[in-house]
Amino acid sequence: MTLLAPPHPLEKRVLLRRFPEPRTEPVWIDEYLRTGGYEALRKALSMEPEQIVEEVKKSALRGRGGAGFPTGMKWSFVDRKSPKPKYVVVNADEGEPGTCKDRILMGYDPHRLIEGVLIGGRAIGACRGWIYIRGEYREYIDIMDRAIGEAYERGMLGPNVMGSGWEFHLSTHTGAGSYECGEETALLESLEGKRGNPRLKPPFPATSGAFQCPTIVNNVETFCAVPDIILNGGDWYASLGTPKNGGTRLVCLSGHIARPGVYEVPLGMNMLTILNEIGGGVWKGRKLKAVIPGGSSSPVLKAEECDIPADYDSLAKIGSMLGSGATVVLDETTDMAKVLARLMKFYAHESCGWCIPCREGTTWLKKITARLEEGIGSERDIETIDRISQSMLGRTFCPLGDAAAMPAMAIVRKFRDEILEKLGHAEAFAPVPGAQPLVVL
Ligand SMILES: Cc1cc2nc3c(=O)[nH]c(=O)nc-3n(C[C@H](O)[C@H](O)[C@H](O)COP(=O)(O)O)c2cc1C
Repeated sequence: MTLLAPPHPLEKRVLLRRFPEPRTEPVWIDEYLRTGGYEALRKALSMEPEQIVEEVKKSALRGRGGAGFPTGMKWSFVDRKSPKPKYVVVNADEGEPGTCKDRILMGYDPHRLIEGVLIGGRAIGACRGWIYIRGEYREYIDIMDRAIGEAYERGMLGPNVMGSGWEFHLSTHTGAGSYECGEETALLESLEGKRGNPRLKPPFPATSGAFQCPTIVNNVETFCAVPDIILNGGDWYASLGTPKNGGTRLVCLSGHIARPGVYEVPLGMNMLTILNEIGGGVWKGRKLKAVIPGGSSSPVLKAEECDIPADYDSLAKIGSMLGSGATVVLDETTDMAKVLARLMKFYAHESCGWCIPCREGTTWLKKITARLEEGIGSERDIETIDRISQSMLGRTFCPLGDAAAMPAMAIVRKFRDEILEKLGHAEAFAPVPGAQPLVVL
């Protein structure tokens, strides 16, 4: 298992508070109980479900899986009076390139996740939950299974949760490593044993989710924030971040950065502070060229745009996203045509092919950007990439199409000159003699 990065003084460790030092072993149940574990659940069991939802609403907790939807509001959409069983699903697919935080939470503090799920389940009156984990995370699946076993043994899970008379069951469910299966409706299809294609929304999962029953689907980090919200109050959690952006978030710093790793910072910390102070700046003393601020689908920022609070609203204002918290640093030597081509190769590979705009759009984006990477193709290709992307935005069955289109548009708009310059030096990239543009749309 990877070591958690040593804490930095500028971090605010709430989710990672059990790790004042780097460690290799997970916190098992005895240590968890010794350090205040399951106290939040005990408190939640003495509260009305509405009060739990209210507290989460007050906390201004927004989903940490990508879209940033307010968690308390999502939970309030579930009709607790529905005669159908209600379910809780943890999205532990962690598919967004650059994102590596959920494995840290499951790998080091598995009971925090279980406790968060139980509180979420209590809030909506659920009877069962699943942790949907990507199959490649074998060691984290084993850790979660062992922790779930411990929770059953101690009566936190099962027919009579902590003696409250409430019954709740939880198990892991293994995915097969498809990015699309992280999309919540495709995830539900996969959970039901079907091919992981997305569903049309509405109905949203809160109304008709797993097995057509009311379901909340939340990211690992989102659930992990819940115990401290219940213990310390929603107002306390909200005060850690900025208005409408409550609490802390895990940042996965990767790319050309001196100290890569997973860190926990208050929402709204300046992006340059995160990069330069916590991450130690661009590696090898090089200059910053660009940052992908929230996983591969978030539109790239040029270096001069990075003096900004890293929260959902500030990044949305400049046309990007906080997304899943993965911050990828690109130094001055980065070839942006290569970044573009690599990203589009990923999205074309991961498109499930269910809808035409995504299947066709990502395929063409991959082909055209591969040409630009090699320094062949034409200026028209840049317009074509922009046009294909615009024709995908908002028109695909699920947001995977948007996830491909948004970074493509940002790169060709912000780094147009660099890509054109590369086209001017095509001979340096040994094109096939007489190569013609592959497509003219
Ligand atoms: C293609 C695609 C992949 C996604 N992958 C993940 C993922 O791996 N993990 C995750 O939590 N959310 C992922 N999401 C977002 C989920 O659909 C959903 O918004 C999220 O699980 C809701 O939880 P949250 O409100 O706690 O963020 C993905 C979305 C799309 C469109």
